[in-house]
Amino acid sequence: MKTAVRYYTRSGNTKKLADAIAGRLGVEAAPVDKGLLERADVVFLGCSYYAFDVDDSVKEFIRANRWNIGKIVLFGTSAAMKSTYKTVSKVAEETGVELLHEEFHCRGQFMGFHKGRPNGEDCSAAADFAEKIMEKMGL
Ligand SMILES: Cc1cc2nc3c(=O)[nH]c(=O)nc-3n(C[C@H](O)[C@H](O)[C@H](O)COP(=O)(O)O)c2cc1C
Repeated sequence: MKTAVRYYTRSGNTKKLADAIAGRLGVEAAPVDKGLLERADVVFLGCSYYAFDVDDSVKEFIRANRWNIGKIVLFGTSAAMKSTYKTVSKVAEETGVELLHEEFHCRGQFMGFHKGRPNGEDCSAAADFAEKIMEKMGL
């Protein structure tokens, strides 16, 4: 069973969670421009909101790698939104990729708001979340 961690970030917030998750799972996190060279049964995919949408490169990652993705598990950060599920689920449906309903999402620093987030606590919670998902899948 192969696991991969991919993320898109503009100011480093989502990368913090990606590194925490990858560290716990013993893999390396990489940006979404790095495609999957082989099939990953579970892909932890990190993305955030920019003007009420996720970046096109996240959607493109799913489309381009659909044959190598088993399931996607979302994680991310934003200033106000609580989930990227609704947006990403449209691309998942379009491509036939399975998207888990469970997701980790927390506040991310934006201008003067949510300073320091995600913080150490958020990163630990993200890593715990990923570990629980893997356990639930019997991995
Ligand atoms: C141009 C821009 C637009 C944003 N739009 C939203 C938004 O619509 N909703 C929201 O909750 N946060 C919004 N944010 C805040 C980011 O989602 C938040 O800072 C996030 O943690 C950024 O993650 P990153 O550093 O991994 O890119 C926006 C940030 C930027 C820079």
